[in-house]
Amino acid sequence: MSSGRIPVIIDTDPGIDDIIALLFALASPELDVLAITVSYGNTDMAASKLNVLKTYQALTLHLEKHPEQQSRFPNYFSTSKPILAEGSEIPLEGDLHSAQYFHGRDGLGDISKRHADLDVARKDDGGDASHPQVQITGTSAVDVALDLLRRNPARSITYIALGPLTNLARLMRADAALVRNKIGRIVCMGGALDVPGNTSPVAEFNFFADPYAVRELLHPSQPELGLPLERFLMLPLDITTPHELPFPVYKAQVDPTFENTSCPSLSKDKSPLTHFTSSFLERTREVMLEFGKDAMELHDIVAVWCAIENPPVADAATPLNRGWKASRRTFEIERTGELTRGMLVVDRREDESAYAPGANRAQVQAELEKAALPHGQFESTALPAQVEIEEPPQKHTSQGVLCVTDTPGPQMLLNLLLKRVWGVEGIKSS
Ligand code: RIB
Ligand code: CA
Repeated sequence: MSSGRIPVIIDTDPGIDDIIALLFALASPELDVLAITVSYGNTDMAASKLNVLKTYQALTLHLEKHPEQQSRFPNYFSTSKPILAEGSEIPLEGDLHSAQYFHGRDGLGDISKRHADLDVARKDDGGDASHPQVQITGTSAVDVALDLLRRNPARSITYIALGPLTNLARLMRADAALVRNKIGRIVCMGGALDVPGNTSPVAEFNFFADPYAVRELLHPSQPELGLPLERFLMLPLDITTPHELPFPVYKAQVDPTFENTSCPSLSKDKSPLTHFTSSFLERTREVMLEFGKDAMELHDIVAVWCAIENPPVADAATPLNRGWKASRRTFEIERTGELTRGMLVVDRREDESAYAPGANRAQVQAELEKAALPHGQFESTALPAQVEIEEPPQKHTSQGVLCVTDTPGPQMLLNLLLKRVWGVEGIKSS
């Protein structure tokens, strides 16, 4: 482990934002990328692995053409090459769902269809020498993670989960005691608490993809089989969605010829890295514009940023670094619901800040905004229906899950991302 840097295992299902998050990690001197483990999720596991290799290919071409920029990617030149390992192809239980609609069949906006130069030859299980920057291994993601936990100092490694939690659940099944003793911090992008879902009205994709893994990790049948929640940080859509890369900013700052057109982006005079990112972001922009949003949501990038700024700590009571806040939330996860699979069910019956029974939330919210008043005064005057309330199902006596509620701000992340990944200045805050 390199002194002072945070050794990380990046567990990912690349995916558009996963790849930008990986580039961000490779460009972040605070991190020491020990391993990249891939799984199904945005696409299938094989395509996930190829997308990591496509990223390294683009970076290699870029740094060969612009050697003066090599210092920007300290984790590209790391002495001990990151291990690239295959993980789960399917969830622990339940149906397999992918997010290919958004990310394209290949997980990267189907770039290879539009740009054959961005494809890579299949690199299955060649040995260490088969790739100059990563150690491609046939050892499973779980066994790679177990070995790294054994070999590194206790509580030093941060596990960054950017996709379904299946790999992490299988890691815990393999040796929960080792993980609980040795892991430093787990940073997980997933869930939706007080906001709508992005994969269904109520579920965020990573937790939708494998709700069984989430349940096993956060609400285990026996406490000693679950994650050490005092070292677990969850970043739900509530906090990640407001962090965006506006495409007009990308066009102005990174790629002036970036167009939302179906025809291939003009790559003749772009840098290899910009050609690579613009080629998949074109597809992202087309999809996001269908939702009326001309920006990319930086979900996984916020999780990597959180890991960068909040290294493992010896005392779990240590607060997060300046600008970062988290609060404990208790919830259950729906595993089988026809409409609610992956939903985080928050019991608001004991939440005094919730709306009164019968309140028309939309109406109350409108009044709140108009009056800029904290709710309470607008409690519904309707008598709550006098119904027999059954005893709530036996609640897990969970200590609650630490969910990030504040970051130093979307503008700060955007500027840091632009500078580190593309080497360009950010935008002045308005
Ligand atoms: O809901 C956002 C998450 O789902 C991100 O990790 C994105 O990559 C997709 O996997
Ligand atoms: Ca992801």
